[in-house]
Amino acid sequence: MPAPELVGTPEPTGTPDVIVVGGGIIGLAVAWQLRRDGAEVVVIDPAPGTGASHAAAGMLAPIHEACWQESHILRLNLAASRAWPAFAEALGTTAVDYRHNGMLMVAYDAGDKAVLDNLSDLHEREDLPVERLHSRECRSREPLLAPGVRGGVYSPIDHQVNPRRVIVELLKRVPTIPAAATEITGNQVVTGGQVMTGNQVMTSNQVITGNPRVMTCGQVVVAAGAWTGKLLSLPIRPIKGQILRLNGPEGLMRLPVKGVVRGSSVYVIPRSDGEIVVGATQEEQGFDTRVTAGGVHELLRDAIALLPALSEIDLVETWAGLRPGTPDNAPIIGMGDDGIVYASGHYRNGILTAPITAAAVSALVQGHDPPLDLSPFSPNRFASQ
Ligand code: FAD
Ligand code: GLY
Repeated sequence: MPAPELVGTPEPTGTPDVIVVGGGIIGLAVAWQLRRDGAEVVVIDPAPGTGASHAAAGMLAPIHEACWQESHILRLNLAASRAWPAFAEALGTTAVDYRHNGMLMVAYDAGDKAVLDNLSDLHEREDLPVERLHSRECRSREPLLAPGVRGGVYSPIDHQVNPRRVIVELLKRVPTIPAAATEITGNQVVTGGQVMTGNQVMTSNQVITGNPRVMTCGQVVVAAGAWTGKLLSLPIRPIKGQILRLNGPEGLMRLPVKGVVRGSSVYVIPRSDGEIVVGATQEEQGFDTRVTAGGVHELLRDAIALLPALSEIDLVETWAGLRPGTPDNAPIIGMGDDGIVYASGHYRNGILTAPITAAAVSALVQGHDPPLDLSPFSPNRFASQ
């Protein structure tokens, strides 16, 4: 794509240390961490917090999201899980509804039990702290479960948070200003701003926003979720997830439950205020965010098969968001050959990995060692593709 033509002379701006492109949970967490580490930061986003982070259920589930052949992702997710208590405490544990009472994974029928057994082999291979449970034991942990449930696995370290509340708290700490403002100071989100697409318009220390307006800084960080592949040549694609919100009496359900139901996966996450989230489809549909009758049907069918009492409570929201997917399912965290720092491609675990991504990016920008080995997540791993 050719570089956009600038209208008139670009306005002079302040020069922040860092510009973060994208204000979802990743960009905002990165900006907040950089700010706490003393940097002047500007986040640019046309609509902060409305992307995948608004859709997300908020499972913080390194174990129940673990897959075979993805040990490096599991290690990252386990480290991310350990980073969450301090992150939640700094934002306000109650304010973000961070709940650490573990998570159940259950099987609906005999075929689903075989899937669970296969995952149990993975848990054993990776020496993960889980408890295998019979049907009765599952129901004593979560009495709403259907009597036919074939058994399950309890993970005491898989937790949950309300991502929408996390965004609210992060935006309080990284305030917004209108895009039309002529002077941009550090530590602010510019709403209405949007970084132009096309490789030519972004470098490691300059972006051009759609006003249009040149903004320079010490370091550009790209955290534009599923849209990152539109901005720069990285193989990041949108993976659609339809998700539902129900509302019932507070305390109706005790535990978050993930289930395998006749071969499909569904999860049901209860919040403190009575909201119950049911998710999520996984679809390759490009940038389509339509909610379909089939998607809603599939989710309700499987959730009610596991937890029949859900059929009695209110369905209050249907939604769809776009997970930022990569060819190997691992996020992209690190500095590219182009000098840009990337924090993108967090796929199914961007809520879980936001705090550790923020710590890693802040360390990189400051020239310090990151808190974990980032080599499996390097943007340069796709150089030959
Ligand atoms: P986003 O939240 O999508 O933010 C990207 C931002 O970039 C957007 O605000 C957008 O406006 C902005 N942007 C785009 N283009 C430009 C541009 N040109 N200029 C400036 N800004 C731009 N993860 C979990 O850990 N646990 C879960 O339980 C969970 N459940 C999920 C359920 C669903 C249905 C979905 C869809 C995802 C779920 N995820 C979950 C994944 C998680 O939501 C994502 O990994 C995470 O939100 C990615 O955050 P992000 O900030 O990178 O992207
Ligand atoms: N991690 C849950 C989802 O992506 O749907």
